[in-house]
Amino acid sequence: MKHKVISFANQKGGVGKTTTCINLAGALSHTGKSILLIDMDYQSNLTLGVGIEPETVERGMGELLLFGDVSFRDIILKSSISDADIAPGTMSLSKVDINIASRRERHSILHDKLIEVKDKYDYVFIDCPPAFNLLTINALSASDGVLIPVQCYPYSLSGLNTLLEIIEDIRYAYNFDLEIVGIIPTAYDTNTRISGEVLNELHRRYGGKVYETVIKKSVKVAEAPIHQKPIVDYAPWHPVARAYTELAREFLKREGERVYKV
Ligand SMILES: Nc1ncnc2c1ncn2[C@@H]1O[C@H](COP(=O)(O)OP(=O)(O)OP(=O)(O)O)[C@@H](O)[C@H]1O
Ligand SMILES: [Mg+2]
Repeated sequence: MKHKVISFANQKGGVGKTTTCINLAGALSHTGKSILLIDMDYQSNLTLGVGIEPETVERGMGELLLFGDVSFRDIILKSSISDADIAPGTMSLSKVDINIASRRERHSILHDKLIEVKDKYDYVFIDCPPAFNLLTINALSASDGVLIPVQCYPYSLSGLNTLLEIIEDIRYAYNFDLEIVGIIPTAYDTNTRISGEVLNELHRRYGGKVYETVIKKSVKVAEAPIHQKPIVDYAPWHPVARAYTELAREFLKREGERVYKV
């Protein structure tokens, strides 16, 4: 395993960060991997997506980042994915940026608190908000790798170079271990030419960083909030569920892990 703590990041909104995080975790849990999911977005879509109503959460990631005496052990809950726990998102995450801005350790709060629990899991997946703020900086400072979902839509590539530059800046400023794990093409629409063009351009620009597995656009994915679990669990027979299983297989292969059964 090359990367243990992995952020799902892209400053563009609605590109599939949360969806990829939930479904890759779901598919990996079927191979026996244990995962800690961390929701860094006050929208709390990851939390909801794995069966926890954010309104019912008393202490979550917001409190963990704001208060010195709150630890991961106080906030971690069981998720709807077998073998995956969740450090839930809460509305208070929206207050974190302004409250920690003047602290000296503002970029490393997550990193420091994660040390206590990360060895209990095979992987730790951090779902980032669609912004470059201190939440994303905390996530990237705590990570060994970044997975970047990109929708195969027009204009999806604009901003990608900036994202890679910022990741490079964070590497030099805070975390020299940070690597790009891969770029995952999502929402590929077989009915439009533009999806194929975007995919070709991704391969031309970023070569081997781009995953071979492509997640197609499917209404089955958009149904996920109703089910509050990964598609590999609520519709395992569906082609898009099989694509996530394939994504997990490619992920493990790239991580240098033996793939016995996915
Ligand atoms: N392959 C797909 N096919 C169809 N819809 C998809 C697919 N992947 C994601 N979606 C839908 O696109 C929307 C955005 O996805 P998601 O929430 O995962 O993006 P995000 O990058 O996490 O968004 P945000 O930046 O707001 O956190 C969701 O409604 C999701 O259901
Ligand atoms: Mg999201």
